[in-house]
Parts: sequence; C-alpha cells; structure tokens
Amino acid sequence: MKNIIRVKIKRFFFLIQRSIRKNKTRVFIASLLAVFSPRVRLDKAESSFNSLKNDNEYTAKLKSSGYVNIPDILLPEKNLASIFKKIDGLELHDPYINLDGYTVDNIPSIAHCSFYSRESLCDIVEIIHLANDPGILQLAKDYLNVTPTISNISLWWGTYSESDPRDNELFHRDKDDYNFLKLFVYLTNTGAKDYNLVFVENSLNSIKATKKLRYSKDEIIQMFGKESIVHLTGGRGTGFFGANYSVHNGTTPVSKERKTLVLQIQYSVRGIMGEEYKAVAANKEVKRLNINPWINRLMLKL
Ligand SMILES: [Fe+2]
Repeated sequence: MKNIIRVKIKRFFFLIQRSIRKNKTRVFIASLLAVFSPRVRLDKAESSFNSLKNDNEYTAKLKSSGYVNIPDILLPEKNLASIFKKIDGLELHDPYINLDGYTVDNIPSIAHCSFYSRESLCDIVEIIHLANDPGILQLAKDYLNVTPTISNISLWWGTYSESDPRDNELFHRDKDDYNFLKLFVYLTNTGAKDYNLVFVENSLNSIKATKKLRYSKDEIIQMFGKESIVHLTGGRGTGFFGANYSVHNGTTPVSKERKTLVLQIQYSVRGIMGEEYKAVAANKEVKRLNINPWINRLMLKL
C-alpha cells in the first residue's frame, strides 16, 4: 500500500514537471532542488579528452544552441572492439511497442529503435569509464550548476522500418526532469542517410513547440526555419552533448542495411522521477575505476 502511494506521489510531481513549458522556469526549479546535492570536487585536467581539459565554451554553446560537438574521439577503436564483444548476443527490446526477446541478427521489421538493457551496460567498464571521465562530469556540472547524477545509460540500434516515423523519430522535447543533459556517442559510422540525431538550433529557450508532445517536420520548419534543423552525424567513436529539452528527433535510415548504434549517457540533478531505479552490483573492473559512489548511485552499487 505504502509503495502504491509513493508511486502515485512520484507520478503527480512528474506530471507537474512535464507541464512547465518555459526552460528558464525549469532551470530555476532545478537550481532549488540542487541545494540538497553534495559538493564533489572534479579535476578536468585528468580527463582523457584534450578539448574537455581546456573547455571554456562548450557549456555556453550548449545553453544557447542546445547541442555542442566534442572534437575528440570519445570511444577509441580498442574500446569500441571491447564493447562490441561484450554486447554480442545480448537481447534487445523496443520499448515503444513493447517488443523484446530478439538480437541484432534478427531485428523484426516493425522495430525502429532496439535497446540493450541498462543492467547489461552497467557491466561494461568502457562505458562506465567514459560516463565518469572528469572532463565530461565537469561539463555536466557546469551545465547543471551542481554535482551531476548519472540518471540513465542507454545503447540502441536505430534501424530502417517500412512504417511511418513514430515516437522519438518525430520532433519532440524530452521532459525527463527539470534540467538535464545527454552525452551521445555513435558506435557506428553515421552519415545523413543513416539513423542520426537531429537538433533544432536555438529551440532550447524558445516557447515555440511546447504545447504538443510531437511535431512534424513541416511544423518545425514553419516555427524555426529550415536552416535551424541540424543533423548531427559523425564517425565511429565521435559524439556530442545535447540539452534535450531542445526540439530534436532521430531520423529513419534510407535502407535496411543501414544500422546505427548510439550510446547515450544522461546527467541530471537527481534521478528521473518517472524511473524506478535498481542499481546493479559493480563488477571487479568497474570497482577498480574508483569512481564516485554518489554520482553513480542510481546505476551501480560500488
Ligand atoms: Fe528525445
């Protein structure tokens, strides 16, 4: 009974959060909630990525444009090879149509986005290492103005489907929390003809496209102009940060042979209210990383 009441209260506050349209108001509420977070000292000089060691501009670009490219290779070939080995044969599911129990070798034609389980990703040291890079955490901290919490880790195949674009393939704003950002990394070479992520430049702080859940491309062009639609493509191992309250979508690839594997790591002030977290026990390799238990508390028992 207590649990049902707790879930209902969480749902109530989650819906209130989703109803707030102005990003400025959302960021203000996030800053109030941030008062309860501990202060953790980060040293971005220890980042694996040169651009993030010296970054002074990425956070500002993210706050205004809604996305920012990182020029470094975020997952080098050695790490990519190890990740591909570890996900080999793992089950996939498409949460948008409640489809599961298949693998990358037999993705059903009705699936658009096929996800690995979060638990399996928390077992992959290369992913946890990237999520905890001090330069990346510092950028998240600068953006959120507080010690970040890793609130989600996802890895999915964006694939061709004969049916019309749906769900995250339509333009939308993510309303996971009052304020959050996401790191995206392509694990396959991703061009304009592949499934790729698209952001609408300068939509983050606009009140346009805040009334409905989904918008067509024509509606977005009318509101923001064609030139505002930016396709974020890149080679294996490259990535960018997105402030996903910006208007964005994922495209549909032009043919069956084209499959894009995307890693997403989400940082927020606290956990996402709509989520039920179950942290998994860290394996030996992950424990050896010596990462901060508070930042990782929703994903890992360290
Ligand atoms: Fe989204």
